[in-house]
Amino acid sequence: MPESPTPQQHDEFDRQRRRVLWALPTGLYLIGSRFEDALNLMTANLVVQVCLEPKLVAVALEDDSVTADLVTRSGAFTVSLLARQDRDVVRRFVKPVHEVVRSDEGAVVSMAGHDVREVGPTRLPVLAAAAGYVVCTLVRRDELGSHTLFIGEVSDVGGEPADVLRMEDTRMHYGG
Ligand SMILES: Cc1cc2nc3c(=O)[nH]c(=O)nc-3n(C[C@H](O)[C@H](O)[C@H](O)COP(=O)(O)O)c2cc1C
Repeated sequence: MPESPTPQQHDEFDRQRRRVLWALPTGLYLIGSRFEDALNLMTANLVVQVCLEPKLVAVALEDDSVTADLVTRSGAFTVSLLARQDRDVVRRFVKPVHEVVRSDEGAVVSMAGHDVREVGPTRLPVLAAAAGYVVCTLVRRDELGSHTLFIGEVSDVGGEPADVLRMEDTRMHYGG
């Protein structure tokens, strides 16, 4: 971009920057969170492993999201990897979940019409149909701006994921 860009040049730069950032390949996941009886599952693509030893996974969460609040309070989160054919699931979790079904024993069995199960000592939700999942204990939290980066150490995993959902399987974008 030139040193003193015109408003048009600035707009064009802005659009190009968004297009290039959108092109960074990412997966599509559900982040599970819970504090006492409050719980949520939310769609996220800003998720990546950031350290091999220890095994750390980072998730960037909108500062005012229900999930950021629950993870901050509980110190844990899950990442559900979705099967590639499950792209419709993603749309059900872009708003905080209000529809929660519990079994007679009190276990959470469904959220927003999708079967879930509880994992780990704090009974965090994961999608029952997940291709795989990761359970993380929060080790670091970094306020970046619009988003806060939550870094968790992997304490448990499940599934044998093969073909998992990625952003390019949908017409959606996030970020940029
Ligand atoms: C394709 C897609 C990817 C998203 N990725 C993220 C993400 O990585 N981080 C985030 O905080 N919100 C992301 N969102 C937005 C959240 O899903 C949505 O705002 C969310 O439900 C708000 O979180 P809450 O339910 O915890 O309040 C994404 C939305 C879409 C449609």
